[in-house]
Amino acid sequence: MRAFLRLAKKTTTTTTLTTIPRKGGDVVVALFFSPRFSSSSSSRLCAFTSSATTTLTDDDDPKKEVDGFSVFPQELPSNARDPSKDDFINDATSPPRTREQQLEYNKHESLRDWLGRQSRKRSVDEIVVLTGNIHRGSEILHNAVYNKGTGFNHSERERLGVRGLVPPRYFSIKEQAEKVWQQQVAMRESNAAKIGRWRHLQALKDRNETLFYRLLQDHVEELAPVIYTPTVGEACLNYSRFFRRARGMYFTKDDVGHMHSMTYNWRGDVKIVVVTDGSRVLGLGDLGAHGMGISIGKLDLYVAGGGFDPQEVLPVCLDVGTNNKSLLNDKWYVGLNSQRLEGGDYYRVIDEFMRAIRHRWPKALIQFEDFQTKHALEILTNYRNDYLCFNDDIQGTAAVVLAGVYGALKVLGAKDRSEIRNQKFVMCGAGSAGMGIVSMLHKAVMKSGGLSEEEAYDNFFIMDNNGLITNERELEFPREAAVEPFAKARKATKELPDGASLLDVVTKSKCTALLGASTVNGLFTEDVLRQMGEQNERPIIFPLSNPTSNAECTSEDAAKATDGRAIFSSGSPFEDAKSGVSGRVMRANQGNNLYIFPGLGLGAVLSGAKTISEEMLVSSAKAIADMLTEDQIRKGCVFPMIKEIRNISARVAVRVIKQAAEEGQAKRSVVKIIESDDEHDTKLFKYVKRAQYVPEYRPTVFPVEEIRKTVDDY
Ligand code: NAI
Repeated sequence: MRAFLRLAKKTTTTTTLTTIPRKGGDVVVALFFSPRFSSSSSSRLCAFTSSATTTLTDDDDPKKEVDGFSVFPQELPSNARDPSKDDFINDATSPPRTREQQLEYNKHESLRDWLGRQSRKRSVDEIVVLTGNIHRGSEILHNAVYNKGTGFNHSERERLGVRGLVPPRYFSIKEQAEKVWQQQVAMRESNAAKIGRWRHLQALKDRNETLFYRLLQDHVEELAPVIYTPTVGEACLNYSRFFRRARGMYFTKDDVGHMHSMTYNWRGDVKIVVVTDGSRVLGLGDLGAHGMGISIGKLDLYVAGGGFDPQEVLPVCLDVGTNNKSLLNDKWYVGLNSQRLEGGDYYRVIDEFMRAIRHRWPKALIQFEDFQTKHALEILTNYRNDYLCFNDDIQGTAAVVLAGVYGALKVLGAKDRSEIRNQKFVMCGAGSAGMGIVSMLHKAVMKSGGLSEEEAYDNFFIMDNNGLITNERELEFPREAAVEPFAKARKATKELPDGASLLDVVTKSKCTALLGASTVNGLFTEDVLRQMGEQNERPIIFPLSNPTSNAECTSEDAAKATDGRAIFSSGSPFEDAKSGVSGRVMRANQGNNLYIFPGLGLGAVLSGAKTISEEMLVSSAKAIADMLTEDQIRKGCVFPMIKEIRNISARVAVRVIKQAAEEGQAKRSVVKIIESDDEHDTKLFKYVKRAQYVPEYRPTVFPVEEIRKTVDDY
């Protein structure tokens, strides 16, 4: 029995309980589903047994009903209470405080989950007790985590009760993925709306998660824009209508005081959380609870691109209301029908959420996503030194742009990264993305370029909707705190006064790089682009705003105006473009955060780091630029091929882990690997690769002998 409970402790969901009559008392066979329980990490489903003589009573009292099931209560400590009345579960103000309490709590965690579920039921009729002749097979087929469809082999069909429930022919995951891919291709070729492809993929995810991630991993280049930006933007706009199946967790302003206990409603271990408050989704504005779509899409990429286990990711939407009138007036809107919280009330929600996550999953990484600028910076500042967290819009974007600039230096033929000091940057957009980018570039100009802080400011011209920002600008605090040092350093002159136009700034600054994070479509006009082409042999042009409809220019605009000479990288995807005059083809790179965040997250989690440092981000950027091949550089690529994302992420993770070790943040086991490694980080790379989740079907049953042995041992 002790062995039984030890196993139960490791599992999260009891799906099947069945009674087998045996000499000396019936045996209860519990079929547990758990990604964590296995003798090898490849097994995700197992069966094991223990004994009991009683099943449920038909008493209506939920507590007695649970007691009637004799397997569990016998093992409860004498001071155990009904978990539904347990105040350290239900009262968020008093979570387990001491280590002993925590251990005790963890010990009975799965038991509490189970008891909690049962105690919520009102009558015995509502409890589904599965016996030997119920439809275990159908249950498995309808569970997206374990379902393999036609991919169950003969032995599994037999043992899991699936035989006859799926068509007789066996197809491997490779063949299944090929079939679904053909459907996607047919949709693409018939010019079906991208949102149709998004829905097709979501339906697959609802049926068979392994196959979904396999497809996504095999075709990440083409599917990332379907699963994430730009298509996910459309999905978020219509999220209430598309809502089919609950995914992730919502925490609302009404949950204050309950968030700690709510985290225990989630099924198991979590390594990474992506959280949004839906206040600025992909530049589409305030989408409230519809922001959940972005957290889900992002985590799909963490799985496909980084190799996180899909069972260990948690998408979160903080529903603190919305100021979006059309959502408030929409009778089908799934979020809270109230105005957005502001000030102290808003930060109370954030704070309780952060503490609840850290309490429940102390090692989990929290990634902030699509928070509006006025909160994004403050939240990051508040937590970055105490929590393992980062903001992808600010830091991820900045790192990927830095990687793009390092890549551009290679295309320009620079001998090393120090030549970044010769670049003059015009940044259009002083929001969280824009300022995150220039802050990181500024540091790179100092560190790689060897300039002083003051000298480095001279390389930057910052613009917002009112034109050039100079020392004469009255800034709004704390909203524009990040702008202040750049504004102070940029003295207004007659030539370039405060508010100067973009064309004037480009012309008079003689800038070499034009960056856009303004959300203004067409901001880089033909005149501006032409001017960039006139003053630079290879102008750097990065229109980073998302989605495509917000991009500052298209690849075609840039190629046309610069005769295909531009080093181009955008936030949303564009096709390579041909110049009309010389016919030269300009490479359209995508400065996709996907290059950074999966590897950064993986490295941070694997290293056991406590925080994400600025240097980890810079190391990630360097890792990406270092992966460029000579051939790619010749073609004007500033990023490696996205289809290599698994390896790119592993390389990024290696650098992040090494950086964590340098900072004294890495766990001992990882430091040992680094200490015994060669100059190419061979061992560390292998360690990371081994840790990556691979979407393959795993064997799903233990041999019958194993079950018998467990029963006999008992
Ligand atoms: P935001 O709304 O906070 O900031 C926009 C900024 O643009 C403001 O400072 C505004 O004054 C400025 N602006 C508006 N009109 C302008 C004009 N005519 N000229 C110059 N500046 C102007 O937005 P946030 O969060 O900073 O994001 C900006 C864009 O960056 C979004 O489209 C977002 O999708 C994109 N982004 C791109 C990423 C990537 O490429 N990897 C990642 C994250 C964000």
